[in-house]
Formats: sequence, C-alpha cells, structure tokens
Amino acid sequence: MTTKPLDGIRIIDFTHVQAGPACTQLLAWFGADVIKVERPGSGDVTRNQLRDIPDADALYFTMLNSNKRSLTLDTKTPDGKEVLEKLIQRSDVMVENFGPGALDRMGFTWERILELNPRMILASVKGFSDGHHYSDLKVYENVAQCAGGAASTTGFWDGPPTVSAAALGDSNTGMHLAIGILTALRGRDQTGKGQKVAVSMQDAVLNLCRVKLRDQQRLERVGYLKEYPQYPHGTFSDAVPRGGNAGGGGQPGWVLKCKGWETDPNAYIYFTVQDHAWAPICRALGRPEWIDDPAYNTPDARQPHIFEIFKTIEEWLADKTKYEAVDILRKFDIPCSPVLSMKEIARDESLRKSGSIVEVDHPKRGKYLTVGSPIKFSDLKPEITASPLLGEHTDDVLAELGYDADKIATFHAVGVV
Ligand code: COA
Repeated sequence: MTTKPLDGIRIIDFTHVQAGPACTQLLAWFGADVIKVERPGSGDVTRNQLRDIPDADALYFTMLNSNKRSLTLDTKTPDGKEVLEKLIQRSDVMVENFGPGALDRMGFTWERILELNPRMILASVKGFSDGHHYSDLKVYENVAQCAGGAASTTGFWDGPPTVSAAALGDSNTGMHLAIGILTALRGRDQTGKGQKVAVSMQDAVLNLCRVKLRDQQRLERVGYLKEYPQYPHGTFSDAVPRGGNAGGGGQPGWVLKCKGWETDPNAYIYFTVQDHAWAPICRALGRPEWIDDPAYNTPDARQPHIFEIFKTIEEWLADKTKYEAVDILRKFDIPCSPVLSMKEIARDESLRKSGSIVEVDHPKRGKYLTVGSPIKFSDLKPEITASPLLGEHTDDVLAELGYDADKIATFHAVGVV
C-alpha cells in the first residue's frame, strides 16, 4: 500500500448531512483515518433520505462518506461518553456540525476536550459565527445562501432572490473547514498544541460572494454598475441587483441559444465577449466590419448595445449545436462552454479519465457514480472506496481502544453501540 499525505491522522467524524461529511470525506481521500460516529439504529439522517433503492444507503449518504469507517455509539450514555473520551485521547481532530450547543450539552465542551487531549483540533461548522446575532439558529444550505448574499444577487432582476444548485452553504463550508483543519495541524507541528477551528456557513457563502461586496461599494460610489444588464437603460437601487447571466468581472457574457433550444432545455452555450478577443469574435461571426467600427470596438462602446450583439451571435448559433459552436469558437480563443446537463456530465469520458467522476462498488447498492477529488496531485491519486455500512467498523474501533470481546458484546446488548 502506498503512503498518503494524511496517513497517521485520526479524525473523529461527528458530522451529519452534508457540510461536515464533505470535509471529512476529502481528508479521508488524502489518507486520514476517518471514524464516523453515528447514533445506533439510525445513523446519519442522509442514510435514509431520498432513497432510490429500498434497504440500501441513499446516494446522499454514499456520495459524502466514502473512505470512512463507521462506529455506532450513543454518546448520551455514560458508557458511550467513556468510549468517546478514549477516542478523543487517541485522535488528532474532531469534526462536528451539530446544531448550536449540542456538543456542550453532551458534555464535550472545548475545555473538556482540551483536558482529555491538549493536541486535539476541534473543527466545527455552524450556520452563523460565534457571537453573531443569529448564532442560535439551525441552518441548512438555502438558509445560508440567503444569509451570505448569494440569493439576493442571483437570478433575474424581475424575479425573486434565487438559490444556486451548487452547495455554496454545505460542501463549500466543508472545503473551507478542511483548509482550517490542515492549517491547525501545521500549527500544531510548530507549537504542539491543538486549537478550535470554526467556519460558519454564512461566512463561507460570503467568501464566494466577495465580488458582490466589491460591486456594492462601487454602486454606492458611482450609482451604477456598467457590467450589469441594468446599465445603461434600466435603473439601479442602492443595493447590488440580480444580474441574470451577466459575466461577473470586466468581460460581458451571457447564456445564448443554440440549435435545438426549443426542445432541449440545455441547448445553450456561455459566450464571453473578452475585449482582446473582439477581432476574432467578429471574424468568427462573419462581421469583420465591426472590428474597427467605433460603435463596437471598445467595451464602453459595446455595452449600450450588448444585447443586440448577443442577438447577432444567437442568429449565428441558430444552425449550430452547442458542441459545434464551441468547436468553432475555440479556434478563435473565445472563452466559452456548452451548458452541460447532469446527464452529459455523468457520461463525460474526460471527467471519468481524470477521476472527477468515479464509479464505486457498494456492497448493497452495487455500482454508483460519485464525484471524486477535484484536487489533483502529481504524487497522489485518491482511490475512492465505498461508504461504510452503519456500524460496519464498530467492533474494530472498540478493539483498537482496548475493549475486549465480552465488553463489546455487552455494549451491543445494552444498545450503547
Ligand atoms: N448519540 C447520541 N446523541 C447524538 C448522537 C449520538 N451518536 N449524535 C447526535 N446526537 C444528538 C445531539 O447530541 C443532539 O441532541 P440535543 O439537541 O438533545 O442536544 C442531536 O442529536 C442533534 O441535534 P442537531 O444537530 O441540532 O440536529 P437537527 O437534526 O435538529 O438539526 C441541522 C440539523 C443540520 C440543522 C443542525 O445540526 C445544524 O444547524 N448544524 C450546523 C449547521 C450545519 O452544518 N448545517 C448544514 C448541514 S448540511
């Protein structure tokens, strides 16, 4: 077996649903021994949510818990607490994303954890940061997207705030937490001491909405935002508006119809009008007269009739599929992509080859697809293994903690594990 960078790091995975599990799954791929602690009998709620095969763990669970071990443990019983204490003494990191105060109520305050293991890193996800006026709230994905500025700035100007399909609140927060954990592990190498790491879902969403806070300040200074569709003919209020599919930076762009859009909801491309690609764009469209026309040849000149330009591009796209269009545009170095459906992504050979989409064999489900590591290394190729069955490793972990077979049998008999 080859060595992995996080070999030797033991993580107590006291997480559930998506935000915490996404974090610990990533660390498991990179070699950490991740022990998922779950309530006996039921386990992580996602094992049962949105099941597509009766009696087999749901994809919601399997796709967020690969490469882990599962220990069932009732941590509200005295025996369960004792087991968790032993685990804390032998582990490097504990990750949790319970509702506010749940860990304290269980008796595992930060002070108690430090007492048990001064080298412990306690990593938490909460909806809002400590001391925030909403810090008592329980939070799910879309709540975080609304609280972090994503929803108010997403969608069309004549529609309501809109959430993204991307898990900006859940998996994104987990990824931030993983960075925090690795930083704390590096810090521990230097000081010998553990520490508490926390990421709130609101903050993690906000971190991805950085450019919208940029826009708020620009709006307050000048009263308009040139790259938004509202400019120059519409109106601006005093808050960043929803900009539809407009490009977020200095390069205007839009989702444009291709051949077949009338029946295929994904027959579109994203087209970017990059300033220095203006001449190639005009050549690709067969409009060379626009290259030097002062009404078109600078970004400022184009912006007032950007939708007329997009309409012209759509006329050019009318007899081309999204793939044909991109194959032509790529020759002109124009930043663009087909709008890909999940069906197309699931069958994409390149994603399979790179390990970004992986087929995993599960003892109860059979084969299923999951998203592999988006982080690629030159000396590590994460191997994605099946998620554990509920309690699959309970006896192994208890034996590693020094419990003998009789004691383990008693724990089973009284429902501690
Ligand atoms: N043994 C015994 N009890 C256990 C246990 C175990 N192994 N694991 C969990 N529990 C208990 C906890 O102690 C807690 O009990 P308490 O409320 O009596 O103190 C309870 O189970 C879990 O509570 P909670 O985390 O609040 O669950 P919930 O289902 O009510 O709320 C969330 C779910 C996700 C809304 C909430 O956990 C939350 O806000 N988490 C933080 C933000 C987050 O991560 N949200 C997104 C997740 S994708």
